[in-house]
Amino acid sequence: MSSLLTLRDKVALITGGGQGIGRHTALRFGAHGCRAVLINDQDLERAETVAEEVRGLGVNAEALRADVTDLAAVREIVARAIESHGTIDVLVNNAGNAGANPPDDLDLPFWEAQPRSWDAHLRVNLYGVINCVAACVPGMIAAQRGGRIITVVSDAGRVGEAGLEVYSAAKAGAAGLTRAVARTLGRHRITANCVAMAATVTPYTEGMFDNADPRLLKRMMDKYVIRRPGRPDDAANMVLFLASDASDWITGQTYPVNGGFSFAL
Ligand SMILES: NC(=O)c1ccc[n+]([C@@H]2O[C@H](COP(=O)([O-])OP(=O)(O)OC[C@H]3O[C@@H](n4cnc5c(N)ncnc54)[C@H](O)[C@@H]3O)[C@@H](O)[C@H]2O)c1
Repeated sequence: MSSLLTLRDKVALITGGGQGIGRHTALRFGAHGCRAVLINDQDLERAETVAEEVRGLGVNAEALRADVTDLAAVREIVARAIESHGTIDVLVNNAGNAGANPPDDLDLPFWEAQPRSWDAHLRVNLYGVINCVAACVPGMIAAQRGGRIITVVSDAGRVGEAGLEVYSAAKAGAAGLTRAVARTLGRHRITANCVAMAATVTPYTEGMFDNADPRLLKRMMDKYVIRRPGRPDDAANMVLFLASDASDWITGQTYPVNGGFSFAL
């Protein structure tokens, strides 16, 4: 692996790092030389398990419990992280839901769903990102070490997904925030980019893949040029690239990682 892909001396905070894409990103970061990998999750036990796995790679790792929709809680873990590790160089906004509607409104068109269902998508996928960026940016600027903000969004936010309108809007909003933040923070050598995933097998979605009618699954996979669903490492590899020095002149972008489900304009 090229030395440009090293995260040597970097401290990284990954939200929703307790499983799925976040867990694989934490392990990638651990394997690429981070000084410390900070694993946030609302589920502390999950985060602890992943921190233990990362420590198994010989890297300092810590679990930090917070719900990213709670700004005060996010500010508190960021302050604790800076006190312990001096800085946060890389923020990965990964916590989110992968698109299912909350159970009480499952299968309803969004205009018939309860506004609290809309909130469920908006709070974690949009406000969660706003909260984490707001909490981390002052420390990144003060540290004068540059920085990386990487947000895991969805192809739904790029091309729109029928039945997931509010989720699509939330993810598109996070990408819009990223572009604006990239403009604001470029002069501090802080970059901000998004990774837009399509259907990826994670603990959140594996039940759907396991239980799907094989003919439906085939029809779905036929929409992917590379005929398989995403793996968490497909996301982690792109996040690693965007966190590393190799992406130094890239900012404000949204990169689809989607097996060719859609193409970037
Ligand atoms: N899996 C997919 O098909 C897919 C597709 C497109 C985009 N994405 C995006 O990728 C990201 C990760 O998805 P995944 O499939 O790995 O999810 P996952 O559900 O398997 O894991 C998400 C983790 O985030 C944590 N989390 C959820 N809400 C949180 C909150 N409010 N505060 C803190 N932690 C929270 C969960 O506890 C869980 O450990 C999400 O942002 C999702 O929208 C996933």
